[in-house]
Amino acid sequence: MGKAPMDTLQLSCIQIAIALLLLTQTGSTIDDTSTHPDDPITNCIATERTALLAFRAGLSDPANLLSSWKGDDCCRWKGIYCSNGTGHVVRLDLRGPDCGSGVWSTQALAGNISSAMLGLQQLWYLDLRCNRFDNIQIPEFMGSLHSLRYLDLSMAQFTGRIPPQLGNLSNLQYLNLETYPYDSGTYSTDVTWLSRLTSLEHLDMTFVNLSTIVHWLPVVNMLQTLKVLRLPFCQLRSSPDSLQLSNLTSLEILDLSSNNFSKRSRPNWFWDLTSLKYLDISFNGFFGPFPDEIGNMTSIVELQLSDNNLVGMIPSNMKNLCNLERLVSSRNNMNGSVTELFHRLPSCSQNKIHELFLQDNNLTGSLPDTLIEALSNLNWLILADNRLTGHVPVWLGELTKLTMLDLGYNNLDGVMHEGHLSRLDMLEELTLSGNSIAITVSPTWVPSFRLRIIQLRSCQLGPNFPTWLRWQTQALTLDVSNTSINDMVPDWFWIAASSVMFLNIRNNQITGVLPSTMEFMSGEVMDFSSNQLGGPIPKLPINITRLDLSRNNLVGPLPLDFGAPWLAILLLYKNMISGAIPSSLCKLQALRLLDLSTNNLNGSITDCLINESSTNMTSLGIGSLSLRNNNLSGEFPSLLQNCPGLIFLDLGDNQFSGTLPAWIGEKLLYLSFLRLRSNMFYGHIPVEIEKLVNLQYLDLAYNNISGSIPRSIVNCEGMTKTRDYTYDLGYAFTPGGSFGQILYSGNFTVLTKGQERLYTGEIIYMVNLDLSCNSLTGEIPAEISTLVELKNLNLSWNNFNGKIPENIGTLMQVESLDLSRNDLSGEIPSSLSALTSLSRLNLSYNSLSGEIPSGNQLQTLGDPASIYIGNPGLCGPPLSRKCSSQPEPIPGDNHEDARDDDLVSFFLAMGSGYVMGLWVVFVALLFKRKWRASWYSLYDRAYVQVAVTWASLGGKLG
Ligand SMILES: *[C@@H]1O[C@H](CO)[C@@H](O)[C@H](O)[C@H]1NC(C)=O
Ligand SMILES: *[C@@H]1O[C@H](CO)[C@@H](O)[C@H](O)[C@H]1NC(C)=O
Ligand SMILES: *[C@@H]1O[C@H](CO)[C@@H](O)[C@H](O)[C@H]1NC(C)=O
Ligand SMILES: *[C@@H]1O[C@H](CO)[C@@H](O)[C@H](O)[C@H]1NC(C)=O
Repeated sequence: MGKAPMDTLQLSCIQIAIALLLLTQTGSTIDDTSTHPDDPITNCIATERTALLAFRAGLSDPANLLSSWKGDDCCRWKGIYCSNGTGHVVRLDLRGPDCGSGVWSTQALAGNISSAMLGLQQLWYLDLRCNRFDNIQIPEFMGSLHSLRYLDLSMAQFTGRIPPQLGNLSNLQYLNLETYPYDSGTYSTDVTWLSRLTSLEHLDMTFVNLSTIVHWLPVVNMLQTLKVLRLPFCQLRSSPDSLQLSNLTSLEILDLSSNNFSKRSRPNWFWDLTSLKYLDISFNGFFGPFPDEIGNMTSIVELQLSDNNLVGMIPSNMKNLCNLERLVSSRNNMNGSVTELFHRLPSCSQNKIHELFLQDNNLTGSLPDTLIEALSNLNWLILADNRLTGHVPVWLGELTKLTMLDLGYNNLDGVMHEGHLSRLDMLEELTLSGNSIAITVSPTWVPSFRLRIIQLRSCQLGPNFPTWLRWQTQALTLDVSNTSINDMVPDWFWIAASSVMFLNIRNNQITGVLPSTMEFMSGEVMDFSSNQLGGPIPKLPINITRLDLSRNNLVGPLPLDFGAPWLAILLLYKNMISGAIPSSLCKLQALRLLDLSTNNLNGSITDCLINESSTNMTSLGIGSLSLRNNNLSGEFPSLLQNCPGLIFLDLGDNQFSGTLPAWIGEKLLYLSFLRLRSNMFYGHIPVEIEKLVNLQYLDLAYNNISGSIPRSIVNCEGMTKTRDYTYDLGYAFTPGGSFGQILYSGNFTVLTKGQERLYTGEIIYMVNLDLSCNSLTGEIPAEISTLVELKNLNLSWNNFNGKIPENIGTLMQVESLDLSRNDLSGEIPSSLSALTSLSRLNLSYNSLSGEIPSGNQLQTLGDPASIYIGNPGLCGPPLSRKCSSQPEPIPGDNHEDARDDDLVSFFLAMGSGYVMGLWVVFVALLFKRKWRASWYSLYDRAYVQVAVTWASLGGKLG
């Protein structure tokens, strides 16, 4: 799983989240001077009525929003406003429904915009925001609506070039052309038409593609009256050093975020705009120091600098910025002492700083011992992901307006007690995760806050269950993982946690049972792994998407009804779950990843997909299934025929029997990892295996497979070709993402080089063919030498005969090669010495003869006796036996003894060493930090709104 693509995805998600926020920000600012439609004096002008009807005729109106558009008096129609003096239609307000939700309403207007609209020559206000004019261009004739002062065409799914005719609207004061990130989008290759809008005060071109335009700023600089300029996500690349003569003296709001300027932080033209109240240059690749010019922006209220590469410390002259309310500079490289930083913040008689977002910088030192005045009115204090040390000072408890405190992932330690927390009545988020802070409060303490987000991972809360959590009944996120709780889970906890969507108590010593009322909890992501929870698994919460109960002491059978229609990831490995696999599992239609390994499941797996209803056979979208290390029996599960998306399948260490079905090759086309080790399968390896072109990991060891290796194995490109691992473990991003992102990595043990190794994320790079301990016969096909990606090849303990393939030396990646315990004869091919990656070789107990090939690698591999023992015909270094024309006599008795000894020690090794580890481990990073970081840079009132919007959008996109 590549890190880079994930970051890119995050980035664009952040950008979208910000874009969604923008939806909620803009609104009409121009006074409404027309009458109400029910004003008795107004009367519709006939020609305008005709024009409106023609305009309506071009639209499609699925929800019949314009049903009031009938009768004579068009001034009474919905969305129409007439002048009370002249009776002319002056306003058309047809903003789409649910505007701002981020998802288009199916009720919105669509279709075409008729030029009949030109009949409305007195129209000064036109709002078509949030409709669905799929893939039509903004009509050129709109440039002829000369009276327009207010034009909002945003978020209306227009596409193509923005018509320069809009430049004829010389009265325009407000122009909003914002588009939507998932639209095919609008663009402009020449914005000189803008310079003719000499009355313009508000210009928004968010997401309009302006990537070909270099000299956009001189054009904008003609707009002397401009107050608001929003150009985020426009793919702009040039930001001049200065404006020799700036006309932008009225500019108050400038948003240039998410463009591609990638230049030094200074000089830059915008630092000179001392009228600015709001400046956003986030996500732009600006680098270099925080410029001193910031100190001259005396009107500034909000400064958004995040996600650049600004270094050093904010300038000391910022002390004068008495209007500053919000400083957002996350993910820069701010370094130096945090105390020094606090001292540089504006310190005025009327202190206004409310929000300080400095996440993910390089701030050092400890928090100051005494309260610095500049901080006293803070609502949000975000210092996460820096390098702060020392204890958390008690003055934090004096920041009584604090709603959000995030000190996560620093090196803070010491104790926090009631004194830090008891006066924070308004606190909604408390994040201290990733520090060594001990929270030591009286068991009877009742906090005055009601937190929404509680993240205390790796803090010290235990050993007793923290009773103050009892009162936190409104939390959405609760992470007390790895907090040294060694206690029975109290009943109240399940009640308090019933509102929590992201619940993580992983890695404690919590005992007790899961509540029988679990189905009524709100959990979407729950991680209870690595505790000592016992009892059976109850019916699951209805909204749950990921559940990790692994490494507990759960007992009893799997539920006959899971509930949980959206469950995508279910990890139950390392418990004591018994009984058969119930058909209820087949009802988990959203399941992508299921790990039931290392339990006490038994019986055969019924094909519940077929049994359910033979007329309506469904399939499962599961991608990864591990049933390893149970007592399951019966044939290879025919159920899997209906799991076409399977990538990983591990049935190892059970008692499955029967033959390997030919349909594996027909039905499981994406199978990459197939592990059937230690079962009782017999019969041949089906030739259909050749259809598994992705197969890179085939482990059939310890079965009773007979016959020969099909030559068609060469078609398994997973073993023959370098791959770009795009499957990314498939389900890392499952639908319903929202906050609770799962960082998923597969863990997998592989027996290679004679020892078991634990592979974590890099299992996707393991290419393995292990057919050891079967009854395979015949020659090792020469084709095996085409499996050039193999890292492990184990054919030991079979009955292969003939020679070792001459070209075995082409397997350049092989690190471990075991052909021992067969009947191979002839000489060892000299190409073997080309295997430079080899670190373990075993050719023992065959009938090989002749001289051992020389080669650097071969001479350095371990103990020559164990590599070549049991091949009395071999000679030459590293063996002491010299090669001569006369083969030496075979010492028969010794041979047999050696075999037996080796056999005993081998099985001993099996018994102790082959306790397989986990197969898959699931890490729930509740509330994925980087994402949240960016949400911080949004207004707090929109915080939850964006989150919810994003959740629903994420669901749609998934
Ligand atoms: C509407 O008419 C009333 C008198 O009829 C007048 O006082 C008012 O100013 C008018 N409104 C506008 C916006 O022209
Ligand atoms: C300032 O705006 C006026 C009016 O649009 C324009 O004529 C002038 O060229 C502008 N100044 C600069 C330096 O662009
Ligand atoms: C700030 O403004 C003052 C007065 O206009 C000017 O002298 C100084 O050079 C400016 N500082 C910066 C860093 O631009
Ligand atoms: C943080 O600052 C130190 C020096 O103070 C520097 O060596 C290190 O590279 C910085 N870290 C990052 C992530 O830039």
